[in-house]
Amino acid sequence: MESLHDLLRQAQEAIQQAHSTAELNAVESHYLGKKGALSELLRQIGTLPPEERPAFGQQVNQARMQVEQWLAEKRDLLAQAELAQRLQREALDITLPGLPLRPARLHPLTLTARRVKSALIGLGFEFVEGPELEQFEYNFGALNYPEDHPAMDEQNSFHIAPGYLLRTQTTAIQGRIFEQVQRGERSLPLRIAIIGRCFRYENVDATHSHTFHQVDAFMVDEGVSLAHLKGTLTQFARLMFGEEVRVRFRPDFFPFVEPGVDFAISWKGGWLELGGAGLIHPNILEHYGIDSERYSGFAFGLGIERIPMLQYGVDDLRLFLENDLRFLAQFPLL
Ligand code: FA5
Repeated sequence: MESLHDLLRQAQEAIQQAHSTAELNAVESHYLGKKGALSELLRQIGTLPPEERPAFGQQVNQARMQVEQWLAEKRDLLAQAELAQRLQREALDITLPGLPLRPARLHPLTLTARRVKSALIGLGFEFVEGPELEQFEYNFGALNYPEDHPAMDEQNSFHIAPGYLLRTQTTAIQGRIFEQVQRGERSLPLRIAIIGRCFRYENVDATHSHTFHQVDAFMVDEGVSLAHLKGTLTQFARLMFGEEVRVRFRPDFFPFVEPGVDFAISWKGGWLELGGAGLIHPNILEHYGIDSERYSGFAFGLGIERIPMLQYGVDDLRLFLENDLRFLAQFPLL
């Protein structure tokens, strides 16, 4: 009987010292489990003289009930403590300020495209859209490029399928618009503009990318001259860069204009080329049934990326394509 007494004392101590429900479960199975200490003791009943057996059995059962009671009490205590701990650990401080939401902002090229657009809309141009996957015919053929003309090599293209390429210049819209005139869906005079992505298969560097944006604008009416072109581009430059900006026109060649010029603006004591321009070649007008004796037009096409590069002092055009938030987050919200 001494050993039953010892066993109870040990069990009580073990129960008291259990620090968690898991530890208590281990104590429980050590004493009450099928192979536990009390069950072992009960199995020894056979070794006792028969007259002592009932009393021994009763004592072991009482001890068992006692251990069960201690376990239940301790389990309650532990459950309370564990709940209190958990509540403390998972406490939610609703008085803490929330995480700030980062406001989204427009890409610098989008900001620039919007400014370009509103300047040209202000000058009376209507904006249209054209496909980025363009037909060779519109991108080159309709623009008076002679077969195998070297100018096409200058604009190395991404050819997608026979007759299709990624447009190398937004000037490709001209043929589409002139066809609409031919079909009677539009009438002269015209003032059309387009902004969009262009693609060229060329070496990427700080000022050239395989993907970039252009704005093209053209006007066809009776008596349109170089003076209209210069006036329009000068006004456009003032709207974009301020009243003091000066403009420069130098002779240049593009198959779709005659005469052709390159267009530059004054910048930091030098000149910065923004694109090309000229009077629409009479061959193009005639090709679409527009009488070039009566009508004439001007056209210009500029790269967009240069504008925010100047405006924000960005020295590498590739940054516009990388979507690095450290770069993009530096631009104004609107
Ligand atoms: C043209 O693309 C003509 N379509 C412009 C034109 C339109 C002339 C109408 C006459 C009448 P050019 O290839 O020079 O021209 O390109 C015009 C501008 O696009 C360049 O000055 C430059 O600012 C920009 N550009 C051209 N290639 C790239 C490139 N790879 N990366 C970034 N910008 C480019």
